[in-house]
Amino acid sequence: MPALSRIAKAATKAARQPIGLITCLIAALTLSTGLLMTGCTPKDNEAAAPLAIVAKTVDDHSYARPQEARVSHVDLDLTADFNQKILKGTATLTLVTEANAKQVILDTRALDIQSVTDASGSPLKFTLGKGNDMMGKPLTIELPQGAQKIVVHYATTKDGTALQWLSPEQTAGKKLPFVFSQGEEIHTRTWIPTQDSPAIRQTYSARIVVPSNLVAVMSADRLTPEGEKVAGHPAQRAFRFDMKKPIAPYLIAIAIGDIGFKAEGSRTGVYAEKATLAAAASEFSDMQSMLEAAEKLYGPYQWGRYDVLVLPPSFPFGGMENPTLTFATPTVIAGDKSLVSLVAHELAHSWSGNLVTNATWEDFWLNEGFTVYFEGRIMEEVYGKERADMLRVLGWQDLQGTLKDLTEPGSKTANPDFTRLHPDLKGINPDDYFSDVPYEKGAAFLRMLEAHFGRKKLDAYLKGYFQRYAFQSMTTDAFVIDLRTHLLHNDADLEKSLKIHQWLYDKGMPDNAVAPTSALLDEVSAQVLAFTEGTPAKDLKVADYSSPQWQYFLTHLPETLTVEQMAQLDDAYGFSKTHNSEILFAWLQLAIQHHYQPAMPALESFLTGQGRRKFVVPLFKSLMAQEGWGVDMAKAVYAKARPGYHDVTRHTVDDIVK
Ligand code: BES
Ligand code: ZN
Repeated sequence: MPALSRIAKAATKAARQPIGLITCLIAALTLSTGLLMTGCTPKDNEAAAPLAIVAKTVDDHSYARPQEARVSHVDLDLTADFNQKILKGTATLTLVTEANAKQVILDTRALDIQSVTDASGSPLKFTLGKGNDMMGKPLTIELPQGAQKIVVHYATTKDGTALQWLSPEQTAGKKLPFVFSQGEEIHTRTWIPTQDSPAIRQTYSARIVVPSNLVAVMSADRLTPEGEKVAGHPAQRAFRFDMKKPIAPYLIAIAIGDIGFKAEGSRTGVYAEKATLAAAASEFSDMQSMLEAAEKLYGPYQWGRYDVLVLPPSFPFGGMENPTLTFATPTVIAGDKSLVSLVAHELAHSWSGNLVTNATWEDFWLNEGFTVYFEGRIMEEVYGKERADMLRVLGWQDLQGTLKDLTEPGSKTANPDFTRLHPDLKGINPDDYFSDVPYEKGAAFLRMLEAHFGRKKLDAYLKGYFQRYAFQSMTTDAFVIDLRTHLLHNDADLEKSLKIHQWLYDKGMPDNAVAPTSALLDEVSAQVLAFTEGTPAKDLKVADYSSPQWQYFLTHLPETLTVEQMAQLDDAYGFSKTHNSEILFAWLQLAIQHHYQPAMPALESFLTGQGRRKFVVPLFKSLMAQEGWGVDMAKAVYAKARPGYHDVTRHTVDDIVK
C-alpha cells in the first residue's frame, strides 16, 4: 500500500475511534492544497507526538494524481460556436509539481483534444487512457523538466454533459440562442480539461469570444461588462473574467445569451434573459438583506459580489451556487417572493461548499446539510421564525418520504446504503446518490447539535469552522476530529450520547433527531380535517395561506379524495392555474393520483415548459405508476418534452419512461 493511502487509512480509523484513544491529531487535509489542518491546540500537542494525517488522498471520481503534479490555475481562451454548438480554444494550466514529476494527469470526458504544447508552443506528448463512461478518460501529458505551464488545444463535443445549448425557441426570449454550464458533480471535465476533483482548488481566468449580440457571464469577477472588440472579427466580442480565490473545479461556470443586468443592493444584483429581467429583479429584491443576515451569522462574505443569474426554463436544478453568480431556475419566480428560500440556500453555499468544500463526493452532506441548516437561519433572520419553521417541517416531511422509499423492502429503487450521510460511492456516479438524505438528514444533524449546545455555542463553532478551513476541502473524518476539538472538547461520553458516529456513518435516522414543528402548519391540519369531514372547499379558513401552508395542505389530503372534491378545490382556489411552481407541483401530484382529468392540460404545459428535475421526475414516476391511465400520457408528453430537457434530467427520466 502506498504510504499516502496508509496515512489516509489511519485518519479514517482515528476519526471512527472514540476519543481517548487518540490524544491529538493534525490532519493535513489534502496533499493537493498542501495546507495543514490543525486539529489540536498546542496544549494537546504536549500529550502525544503529532500524527500527520492525510484525511483523504484518493478521490474515486478523478484520475488526477495531485501529489505528483496538480493544476493550480486554469486560463481559458475559448470561442463559442453556436452553429456547431461547441466551445473551442485553449486551456492554459499552471502546475505545481513534485521535483521529479514526469507527467500530469487531467480528467476529460467527451472532449476533442487537438494538441498539447508547452508555454512556448512546442508540442508535448500526450495519451488519452481508456477510462469509462462515468469518469471519462485520463489525459496524461509528458512534462519536460521543470515545466510549469501547459496549453491544451481542444473543443467540446456534443456528447459532453456540462454544457446545454439552447435554440432560441428553448429560451424565455425566443429570439436568440443560449448556452450554460453545470459542473457539479463531475461534469466540468466535459468542457475544461483539468483535474476535476473538489479537493484540487484552482484559480481561473478566461477570455470568452461570443457573437456580438450575446453576453457572456462567468462565476468570477466580470472584468469587461460591455465586452471588447475582437480584431478582425466585427461580428464577435470578447468578455474577460478573473477568479482570484482558489475554488473547486465544479464551480467554474459560464452562461452566454441575451443577458441583461439589474442592480439590487451595493454588492448584489440579478442577471437574466432580457425577457425575464424585470420579474426576476423584483422577485429577488431581498438579496442584499439576505447577504447581510448571512454575514451576521457566520462571518464576512469572501467573494466580492453576490449576483443571481436566472436561466432559461430547462435549467435542471433549482439553483447552483457558482461563486459570485448563483445560477437559478425561473420556476422560483412566483411573483410574490414566496420561493426565495432558494436564494438563501445558494447564498449560504458561499460559506458551506464554496469556502469549505466537500473533499470528495462521499462528503457531499458537508456541502448540502450545512447549507440547508444555514438557509433556515437566513430565512429566520429575514422573514421570521414562523416562516423558517414551516420550511423546516416541509424538509423534514420530504426526508421521511425519501427514507421510506430508500428502505422499502422489495422496491426497485430501494437502497438502504443511501440513507447514510457518508456513503461508499466507489464505482457509483455521485449523481445517483442525490436525494434528501445529504440535505435534510445533514441539516437534522446540525439541529440536533443546536438542541444540545444551544445556538450561541453552535454558532460560535460554525463561524470558527468556516474560518479554520476557509478555501480548503473537508472530509467527514476530518470534520469529526474538528468537532471533537472545538465543540465536544474531547468528551468521549458526550460524543457517544449524541450518537455522532451513528449520525455520520450509519443508515437511517438516530433516535435523538429533533423533529421540527410549526404552529402555522398544525392549523393547516385542522383545515384538512374539516375538508375531509365535509366542509365545502370554499368555506375553509385558508384565505391568507402562504406557499408552505398550501404545500402542506395539498400533501396532507387523504388518499380517499374524490374527483368531485378535487374539482371543488380547483374551483375555489384555482390550483391548476397557479403561478407558484411548488403549489402547482403538489397539486399535479394529486391530480395524477386521483385521475383528475381537468388538470391534465396544466400538467402537460408544466412538463413541457420547464425541465427542473425535482418537479419533472416525480411527476413522470407518478404517471407511470397509474397503469392503464397514466402510462400512455407519460410517453406522449415525454416525447414532446424531452428535446427541451437538460441531459441530467433526460438521464433520469429515460429510466422511468421506457
Ligand atoms: N448544489 C446544489 C445543486 C446540485 C447538487 C447540482 C448536486 C448538481 C449536483 C444546489 O445548491 C441545490 O441544492 N439546489 C437545490 C435547491 C435548494 C433550494 C435545495 C435544487 O436544485 O433543487
Ligand atoms: Zn445546495
